[in-house]
Amino acid sequence: MTFTLVPERPDDAALNAPLLDRTFGFDRTRRTVYRLREGIEPLAELSFSAVADDGGLLGSIRYWPIEIAGTPAILLGPLAVEPALQGQGIGKALVGYSLDAARRQGHEICVVVGDPNYYRPFGFISAAAQGLSLPGPVEPERFQVLALVDGALEEVYGVIARSRTPAAPRSRRRLRRSVA
Ligand SMILES: CC(C)(COP(=O)(O)OP(=O)(O)OC[C@H]1O[C@@H](n2cnc3c(N)ncnc32)[C@H](O)[C@@H]1OP(=O)(O)O)[C@@H](O)C(=O)NCCC(=O)NCCS
Repeated sequence: MTFTLVPERPDDAALNAPLLDRTFGFDRTRRTVYRLREGIEPLAELSFSAVADDGGLLGSIRYWPIEIAGTPAILLGPLAVEPALQGQGIGKALVGYSLDAARRQGHEICVVVGDPNYYRPFGFISAAAQGLSLPGPVEPERFQVLALVDGALEEVYGVIARSRTPAAPRSRRRLRRSVA
C-alpha cells in the first residue's frame, strides 16, 4: 500500500466525518476531548490527510488549540485510518509527520487521549503524573502529554481548557509580549 501525506484538502472535511464514524463509532462526540473542541476550528496548518494514488482518503489527523492553566498547547486528534487499511504504517506516518510540523511551527506542548502503547514511542508520557487534568471523565492511562521542546513541561500543570484565542504558540506569544 502506497500513500502520500498532504495538507488536508478542501473536500476531505466532508469525507472525514464518515471516516471518524467508522473508526470511533457514532457516540464519539460524547468524549471529553470533544468539549475542548466545541466552537473552535482545528489548526489548518496541522491538518493532514493520507491519500491513495487515486486520491482517495485513507486517513487523517487534526490538532486543536488548548490551554493548560493559561499555557498554550495543542490537542492531537482525531487520528483515524480507514479500518481495512489499519496496521500498515499510515497512522504512524501521520503522527510523526504532524508532530514534526508542530515543532517547526513553534508549538511546545501536545496532549492526546489515546492508547498509551501507541503514543509512547513518540515520547508521550502520563499527563496525570505531570499534574494535568481534563474538565471531564477520562481513563487516566489514556491521558498523555508530550514536550515538543526540551523543558516545555516544567512548571506546567493544572486543568486543560478550551483555547480562548486562536492558536498562539508559546514562543510567538512571548514575542508579542516583548514588543507590546
Ligand atoms: C490507531 C490507528 C490510528 C493506528 O493507525 P494504523 O495505521 O492502524 O497504525 P500503524 O500501522 O501506523 O501502526 C504503527 C505501530 O503501532 C502499532 N499499533 C497499531 N495500533 C495499535 C494500538 N491500538 N495499540 C498499540 N499499538 C498499535 C502497530 O503494530 C505498529 O507497530 P510497529 O511500528 O512496531 O509495527 C488506527 O488503527 C485507527 O484509526 N484506529 C481507530 C481509531 C483510533 O483508535 N484512533 C486513535 C485514537 S487517539
